[in-house]
Amino acid sequence: MEFKRSIIITGGAGFIGSHVVRLFVNKYPEYRIINLDKLTYAGNLANLKDIEDKPNYRFVKMDICDFEGVLKLMQEEKVDGIIHLAAESHVDRSIKDPFTFAQTNVMGTLSMLQAAKAAWDGNWEGKRFYHISTDEVYGALEMTHPEGIEPPFITKASSGTHHLAYGEKFFTEDLKYQPHSPYSAAKASSDHFVRAFHDTFGMPTIVTNCSNNYGPYQFPEKLIPLFINNIRHRKPLPVYGKGENVRDWLFVEDHARAIDIIFHNGKVAETYNIGGFNEWKNIDIIKVLINTVDRLLGRPEGADMDLITYVTDRAGHDLRYAIDSSKLQRELGWEPSLQFEEGIERTVRWYLDNQAWLDNVTSGDYQKYYESMYKGR
Ligand code: NAD
Ligand code: DAU
Repeated sequence: MEFKRSIIITGGAGFIGSHVVRLFVNKYPEYRIINLDKLTYAGNLANLKDIEDKPNYRFVKMDICDFEGVLKLMQEEKVDGIIHLAAESHVDRSIKDPFTFAQTNVMGTLSMLQAAKAAWDGNWEGKRFYHISTDEVYGALEMTHPEGIEPPFITKASSGTHHLAYGEKFFTEDLKYQPHSPYSAAKASSDHFVRAFHDTFGMPTIVTNCSNNYGPYQFPEKLIPLFINNIRHRKPLPVYGKGENVRDWLFVEDHARAIDIIFHNGKVAETYNIGGFNEWKNIDIIKVLINTVDRLLGRPEGADMDLITYVTDRAGHDLRYAIDSSKLQRELGWEPSLQFEEGIERTVRWYLDNQAWLDNVTSGDYQKYYESMYKGR
């Protein structure tokens, strides 16, 4: 079958990537969608069971660092678009093992760029290299507030929407990069390489920086799925520091929709921030999770509050992230589809209904890793 477009999505077996692959495979039967993934501990083909037999889908087990392999695949499949998500993504792991993060996130991205450059050979017409990055590259924001007003306070974004905030400043696209963790330093470096390939060679690139995602299929080392699982099994909830850090949460399907819009309509060489103006203190989210899990399991609401266990803070723990996505909303008309309460309810239900998925991804080596991670905390 002749396809209208041929697109490689890297990291398609991971959390966000699997939602992007599903969206593209279902929405664009006229596109060839190639999921290129090494299947690290975070990659899981069970995330894509529902679409694996679709005629426009192909999975290729490959390391993004394999320049020759990627180039051959691009030539064989006449690839004209790359949506690059593959990365090491967990901050705590990057503190323990920065080398792996530099290798995958920096060298892997460079290898993808070099392969695209070689395959496209200066013929940029109709081509696109879309790199998925994070808000963490901007560093951390302070928790300031107007005199006499306690946070969270209502503020107005330049898009005109009102929302609650824990500080007066937001991450905008023009901010200087100030990454703090080895993870965000590696992501920042990869973003620079992507822009350098536009500026030096003319490659049609786009970079987006998104806030914290939540939803189904997230590996349960991240706050939300880890805590849902622990509450269910009445295990301690390791809250870093005082639980006062603020994160800005977006439902993963809204991120996938933004990626679709930006891949098709975003301007070459531009950067777009993606986020839903949805700031929460960790401790408040944790209380919502406890109440929701308890209610859905028929336990008295809040019965599991005593699982909250304050542990040693994450090294270099960024205080606050808050994305200003006004540019994306204004220029490309994207907006989040879900209220947080609805998204969290759907997410908690999904993890409670999919215990087998959780057990599967946390078996074997992950157990040893998890135990070593929390030793001494
Ligand atoms: P994830 O850890 O769930 O998935 C990463 C995927 O990449 C896995 O399928 C893994 O097997 C694959 N992978 C890792 N190394 C690879 C390699 N060398 N070659 C090929 N595949 C490899 O990550 P995620 O949370 O879905 O994040 C996806 C992307 O989005 C990352 O680039 C991340 O930096 C970015 N991002 C994540 C969030 C978030 O909240 N999770 C927010 C903003 C941006
Ligand atoms: O902001 C986007 C980023 O969001 C992405 O780029 C990363 O890939 C993604 O992992 C996420 O990073 P965070 O470090 O913010 O997510 P995490 O789920 O690890 O932690 C969320 C907050 O919860 C953070 O302040 C640390 C805290 N935390 C986390 C864990 C795992 C705890 O208090 N206890 C925990 O056990």
